[in-house]
Amino acid sequence: MNLKEKVIVVTGGARGIGEAVAAVVCANGGKVVIADLKGADETAARLRAENYAAEGFQLDVTDSAAIDALIDGVVARYGRIDGLVANAAFANSNPMLDHSDAEWRSVMAVNLDGVFYSVRAAGRHMVNAKSGSVVVISSIAGVKAVRPEVHAAYDVSKAAVAHLARVVGVEWAKSGVRVNAVGPGYTGTEMLTAVGITNPEIMATWLEDIPTGRLLQPVQIANVVAFLLSDASSAINAQLIMADSGYSSF
Ligand SMILES: NC(=O)c1ccc[n+]([C@@H]2O[C@H](COP(=O)([O-])OP(=O)(O)OC[C@H]3O[C@@H](n4cnc5c(N)ncnc54)[C@H](O)[C@@H]3O)[C@@H](O)[C@H]2O)c1
Repeated sequence: MNLKEKVIVVTGGARGIGEAVAAVVCANGGKVVIADLKGADETAARLRAENYAAEGFQLDVTDSAAIDALIDGVVARYGRIDGLVANAAFANSNPMLDHSDAEWRSVMAVNLDGVFYSVRAAGRHMVNAKSGSVVVISSIAGVKAVRPEVHAAYDVSKAAVAHLARVVGVEWAKSGVRVNAVGPGYTGTEMLTAVGITNPEIMATWLEDIPTGRLLQPVQIANVVAFLLSDASSAINAQLIMADSGYSSF
């Protein structure tokens, strides 16, 4: 997982899985650029306090011009971009018949459009440089119907980003750019608050369905992402790699 001197952009990197990715990138020698709606500066400052190379930018991934400016700025400052982790997302929680048009659009705007803008912006430079690794964050919810909580918009957005990784990974293969997706299982972050971690009945169902009987920790997902960013995974392209303790096989 050698990421020495690699320049890696992580969207949604201020907390949760994205923050763990930023930390693992730094611990393996990389330079990280964190982009988030809020908290990016603080997370980057914590990493700099440990003598790591980290920058934070406040940014909404639904703003394609802001994403372009971020990535162009990274390339202008560092001379290159070696990796992108398109991780920013949020989970809605609603039955299908209660999804309003606005709810559907807002989930797609962040979880799908935001990933598209980020991958396109990074890809412009990576394809030109004939090098780079892109990792988009999907979910168990993108490959099967999870229970007991329901959030159709979130599920479809997560299936879509995995397929984006497949088709774009194949499209860019001859350019030396790899694109993969990681599908985390239930992981102990603030996102789970939105979908029921504080509800004992929901939590009990999750633990019953997870083969190991426990939630994953963000660093476990981050290690898989770091492997895909590194040259150690050079054979892996256009794949969805599940990091879910076997949940999707159950
Ligand atoms: N936690 C889980 O159980 C789980 C399971 C499967 C997949 N995932 C996926 O992992 C990724 C990270 O989730 P997490 O659990 O760390 O969630 P989290 O809510 O802790 O962190 C998400 C981060 O994304 C940022 N973000 C949200 N909308 C944004 C926007 N419009 N622009 C910029 N940043 C934005 C938030 O500010 C936050 O820092 C997401 O893609 C999520 O779908 C999480």
